[in-house]
Amino acid sequence: MKKAVITGATGGIGEAIARKFASLGYELILIFSKNLEKAQQLKEELSAQVPVSIYSLDFSDTKSYTTEFQHILNHHSSIDVLIHSAGISVRSLFHEMQDSEFERLFEVNVKPLFYLTKEVIPKMISKGEGSILSISSIWGSRAASMEVAYSMTKGAVEQFTRSLAAELSHMNIRVNAIAPGGVHTELLSNLTPEEMRTFTEDIPFNRLASPEEIADLAAFLVQKGTYITGQVLTIDGGFTL
Ligand SMILES: NC(=O)c1ccc[n+]([C@@H]2O[C@H](COP(=O)([O-])OP(=O)(O)OC[C@H]3O[C@@H](n4cnc5c(N)ncnc54)[C@H](OP(=O)(O)O)[C@@H]3O)[C@@H](O)[C@H]2O)c1
Repeated sequence: MKKAVITGATGGIGEAIARKFASLGYELILIFSKNLEKAQQLKEELSAQVPVSIYSLDFSDTKSYTTEFQHILNHHSSIDVLIHSAGISVRSLFHEMQDSEFERLFEVNVKPLFYLTKEVIPKMISKGEGSILSISSIWGSRAASMEVAYSMTKGAVEQFTRSLAAELSHMNIRVNAIAPGGVHTELLSNLTPEEMRTFTEDIPFNRLASPEEIADLAAFLVQKGTYITGQVLTIDGGFTL
């Protein structure tokens, strides 16, 4: 049975990806931060389909989560898929953003790509295959006010994707990312109703994506996109056209 590690599994997109990969028969190693209740519910429900384990790791404490992740991987001889879906958004005018918020954005959105992926790659190399997928954002390559620091983190996700793909292609390890526009999850709860209305009106499809639509693309990239690597696929209902 193939195994997938999913970070941010208690988030809107991560949960949808966990459900999708359970339906595809993957054993799941689900990483979350604080939402134990949701993680336990997900485990209880999806365990009817596949083996599921849940672990709380706080990405603001690099040393401790790296060590914990090493312990987790010791229980698994192979890992086929690593999906980085944990992420936070802080919207602020650039000159008003607190230093601590800037640090937190990089701790959650960027640094785990480095520390967790580093631990997983040797297992993929010894198996001779693997797939690494990150959730970026349209703000990883586009510009918008109030999104400077968030955009910086997503730009890093996208360069991580391309550069690591170049390094690992000859080992049959693919590295890709998904760049969603607006997705119906808690992450957008920092938008006021008015901001949400304006944002939605600017989307040609006139609606946000569902988390399941992102999960379907994740499954495609991992399972069917066997000749795709180093790519960032936009899924935004035409927003960036
Ligand atoms: N929603 C959108 O419109 C949208 C659009 C473009 C890109 N994205 C990207 O998609 C990804 C998933 O977003 P989402 O909408 O699913 O967000 P979400 O519903 O807010 O979920 C965020 C997830 O990140 C985890 N997390 C937060 N802080 C953490 C920390 N310190 N350590 C470890 N995990 C932490 C949360 O864990 P707990 O629940 O346990 O706290 C949760 O599982 C993010 O990278 C986001 O930037 C989202």
